Amino acid sequence: MALRTIRIAGDPVLGKACKEVKEMNERTRELIDDMFDTMYEANGVGLAAPQVGILKRIVVIDTTGEDPIVMINPKIVEKSGEQTGQEGCLSLPGKSGIVTRPNYVKAVAYNEDMELYEIEGTELLARAICHEIDHLDGHMYMEKVEGELMNVEEAGEDE
Ligand code: NI
Repeated sequence: MALRTIRIAGDPVLGKACKEVKEMNERTRELIDDMFDTMYEANGVGLAAPQVGILKRIVVIDTTGEDPIVMINPKIVEKSGEQTGQEGCLSLPGKSGIVTRPNYVKAVAYNEDMELYEIEGTELLARAICHEIDHLDGHMYMEKVEGELMNVEEAGEDE
């Protein structure tokens, strides 16, 4: 298990677009393992590679604590509905804000064996997929917050 340092808002790496992953190798497998370790340690439900300083299109998500999802080169192919709720980010600890997202998304991505798969999500999973893919394009949820950012005592569902 290896923890990586989570980059905090203001770090230029969080504003950059990430590159597609062309092939799987040991180094990238290790990165994915470390991203899960780092996300669980921080009690997050999602983490994108740029949040640990790596500009690759890789996302890990686990909204239940027992449902780890790896998304490599993810793309949203369908979305519908709307949900408005609190969102946080491991790169902005102690804060949250209200963001409107689709209530349903369908995405395609590669898994850690570089096999293409499709995933559907609603509610928190849909929110997490949108939030993490935004990171890969250098965007953070603060750009979408309705009203003011709020302070939270303990971040519950950070991405
Ligand atoms: Ni985030």
